[in-house]
Amino acid sequence: MEINGETITEVKRYDQLNISPAIMKALDKRGFVTATPVQSGAIPYFMEKRDVIAKAPTGTGKTFAFGIPMVEHCDSQGTDVTQLVLAPTRELALQIQDELRDLCEFMEGVRVVCLYGGAPIEKQIKELKNHPQIVVATPGRLMDHMKRRTVRLDHVETVVLDEADRMLDMGFIRDVTHILDLIKNRKNIGMFSATISREVMDISWVYQRDPVEITVQADIQNKPDIDQYRIEVDRGEKAELMAQLLLHGGYERAIAFCNTKNMTDRLAGLLRMRHISCEAIHGDIQQATREKTLQRFRDGKMQVLVATDVAARGLDIDDVDVVFNYDVPDENEYYVHRIGRTGRARKHGIAYTFCSSITEELRMDNIVKGTRNKVKKLKYEKGTLLELPEDGTV
Ligand code: CDP
Ligand code: MG
Repeated sequence: MEINGETITEVKRYDQLNISPAIMKALDKRGFVTATPVQSGAIPYFMEKRDVIAKAPTGTGKTFAFGIPMVEHCDSQGTDVTQLVLAPTRELALQIQDELRDLCEFMEGVRVVCLYGGAPIEKQIKELKNHPQIVVATPGRLMDHMKRRTVRLDHVETVVLDEADRMLDMGFIRDVTHILDLIKNRKNIGMFSATISREVMDISWVYQRDPVEITVQADIQNKPDIDQYRIEVDRGEKAELMAQLLLHGGYERAIAFCNTKNMTDRLAGLLRMRHISCEAIHGDIQQATREKTLQRFRDGKMQVLVATDVAARGLDIDDVDVVFNYDVPDENEYYVHRIGRTGRARKHGIAYTFCSSITEELRMDNIVKGTRNKVKKLKYEKGTLLELPEDGTV
């Protein structure tokens, strides 16, 4: 881990981080004793209300890295929103809300409200009338509430942009800057992301003062243990290949990624024809249905979740045995995020990427090079998998 360019090796226990008894109790309840590297690095600075940019791979505990100091800064008697988290998707916003609620379980009077699009606004307005100190929101819906004056942000002290790079490249940059401009009394901003893009640096340049930069490399300590394969396969055989792999691998929980909403629906259909229990999640599916699907998947009631990158981003779904890249991802970072769903919590994971055209092969070459991952080549032909020799192209 690096803090402002200096490499730090020490990882701290929560009881070394000046955390109050009520939050320690909540951590204890979950059995957490040692802070993750990004938490060890960010918590002390965030506690002092310093600006922070933290870059750490998916699944390394960024939520608590900002969540613990935010909850710590809440006044349980207070009636103003003082803590604001912005997240790119509704699912992520809800997940952050849940994590924060867990953290303040033993802090009576601290309330967390989640504001996101695609759900009735009246219910959210009612919740806001309960005077939460923490608001977790997607930028669009928060803007709605601000226009209606159903939320007041003039007492906000701390703002966090979670999955900052994603949020900015999803076109929220104007909403985000608008929101930041209106929060005149803020003391600090935290940006948490697996990657730091130029847009994130631009926001930092304008809105942060002397930020502490924390970088957690995907080193051996964090790097998930994932066996990666790329498989040459005819387009028309992909669903069959996936079914075969699921059957022979004995995998109980899988995520399959597609590049388009359309393809997730089609793949879900193809898998169901093969009696594989699955559901698709993407942006056009109703919020309530998406949540139900995710819950069923978490509860182990469904074998395969078929998702687009946007829908799956930031979701804390661990315990996935295998990830399928049914389509080769468009961006190298997506590859890293996708396969990061497996091999979490030091379990062994497997990732398969299907390549069905020269374009996809080249895209995959580029991913392998760009992410410096070790990926074995296989070929699916006449119902069998063949190992291909390493040919030096990657
Ligand atoms: O945001 P990011 O992808 O970095 O990870 P997260 O969703 O905050 O955390 C991934 C998982 O690590 C969650 O299930 C946490 O509860 C868990 N965890 C943690 O945050 N801190 C620990 N000390 C141990 C586990
Ligand atoms: Mg996160």
